[in-house]
Amino acid sequence: MTKPIKHTRPEPAGRIAYVNGRYMPHGQACVHIEDRGLQFADSIYEVCAVTGGRLMDEQGHLDRLERSLGALGINMPIARGALQVVMREMIRRNRLSNALLYLQVTRGAHKRDHPMPAAHRSTLIMTVRPFNIATVEKRRAEGVAVITLPDIRWGRCDIKTTGLLPNTMAKTEARKRGAFEAWMLDSDGNITEGASTNAWIVTGEGVLVTRSLSPRILAGVTRLGVLNALAREGFNAIEERAFTLKEALAAREAFVTSASGGVLPVVSIDGQAIGDGRPGPTTRRVHALYAELSQAEAIA
Ligand code: PDD
Repeated sequence: MTKPIKHTRPEPAGRIAYVNGRYMPHGQACVHIEDRGLQFADSIYEVCAVTGGRLMDEQGHLDRLERSLGALGINMPIARGALQVVMREMIRRNRLSNALLYLQVTRGAHKRDHPMPAAHRSTLIMTVRPFNIATVEKRRAEGVAVITLPDIRWGRCDIKTTGLLPNTMAKTEARKRGAFEAWMLDSDGNITEGASTNAWIVTGEGVLVTRSLSPRILAGVTRLGVLNALAREGFNAIEERAFTLKEALAAREAFVTSASGGVLPVVSIDGQAIGDGRPGPTTRRVHALYAELSQAEAIA
């Protein structure tokens, strides 16, 4: 008896993953159980927005990927140009024009042992998932609530590792309290950054303040994009410095930046309204300038 013919349907959009040179159905994609990314969070990641089929801030994300890998001595899994080809191929195969592309590089699979192996072959994984523009635009129109929590992370927050437990705990607490984001406070009472965003305020004098780069925060690619967009406009009322929770509560406006949300207005902190409790004109302008520049610079 002949077996019935099995018709293989194409995978739905967003369901093709990439693992070490192979494109495969998302549900079948896997890595070795001894992978150091799994065992020790010995791995680096990036999240890039895809808008209208184009990667936003691609060079910035790849620069940071190389910096993070360099800081931990993890090899680039493939050359940068090849990586860019795979990123585009993933967008194409997943048939998504508005998406978030996730890529992770680990130190690869080794017998579990704390010291980093002398030689390794990196693991590269990539996924693309649909990006709900309507949800983000609703947040942009209404603004988001933020809570504050102590920053309990390690001393190298500038390295974009997948060791994100403090961040996921903070985000979970924020959700529990009906907030979008948690801003983290250092022992001096200064805000470092959000669990997955950089933090900004607009002072009563109209000065934009965001924490300066150091091992205490992630050098956000969107943060840099905003600074570049403002510089292009000749806007120089910007201070890169630490600011306290007290200063944030007294701010005229506040906002967060990230690849997944662009510039999002913060309308309350710990339940207290910022400014008049609605998204403000400076934040709107900053978002427009950033969106314009990042779209103009995107390469197909
Ligand atoms: N988060 N700070 C932290 C701790 C982050 O995790 C992120 C990014 C940012 C903003 O960086 P960028 O502008 O490069 O996205 C700041 C990503 C989006 C994430 O974990 O999903």
